Amino acid sequence: MISIALDGPAGAGKSTLAKAVAKKLGLIYVDTGALYRAVGLKFSRMGYNTELNCDIENILKSTAVDIRFIGQEQHVFLDGEDVNSLIRTPEISMMASAVSAKPPVRAFLLELQRKLARENSVIMDGRDIGTVVLPDATLKIYVTATPETRADRRYKELKDNGMDVNYDDILNDIKKRDYNDTHRAVAPLKVAEGGIVFDTDNLDFEAALCSLIEIINKGVKN
Ligand code: DC
Repeated sequence: MISIALDGPAGAGKSTLAKAVAKKLGLIYVDTGALYRAVGLKFSRMGYNTELNCDIENILKSTAVDIRFIGQEQHVFLDGEDVNSLIRTPEISMMASAVSAKPPVRAFLLELQRKLARENSVIMDGRDIGTVVLPDATLKIYVTATPETRADRRYKELKDNGMDVNYDDILNDIKKRDYNDTHRAVAPLKVAEGGIVFDTDNLDFEAALCSLIEIINKGVKN
């Protein structure tokens, strides 16, 4: 069983790269951001905004989040409903970032993530995989790029999915999320001890994938 932790800021290309690596190396790809997005969706549906003026622990008691793999694809279930197609909006991105700063939410999702890595060989992407969720991962990689490069990629991705979005709004959201994710008290985004920093700034997808596979093959052998 091997586990590869892939952490880094929003839009660094983690999920696209992880999906491709999983396919090439026969691993299960786990997108942990989707779990936080599902929790964010729950609170949003209940009418709360990013201030989360509510009893979070109590709401989590009647919340169920689960992951199922349909074909090769991960589907996230919230209270029994497949919410995959509802969690990629800019609003839910901000809600996910807000709920992820709350310790009860992190504790709520921790065991599910560890269980997936115990039972499968995984490449798991997130913010705290190498630091908290899987500190003994076979390999810890921190994928990064400038906020502008990341905003550009996210803009194209959302446009391709038919969403009506504005580049400056996306760049602002990315900067806000970077701030939230790196400054929160619990499990802040940072390079794990023994982690390898992988900068994708000047690399297109194919070049990034090639370098990443090289890093993984070398790292898994050692
Ligand atoms: O990777 P993503 O953009 O889908 O993640 C959404 C939010 O969830 C992100 O702003 C921070 C949070 N998150 C986290 O705190 N820890 C993780 N392991 C994954 C995501």
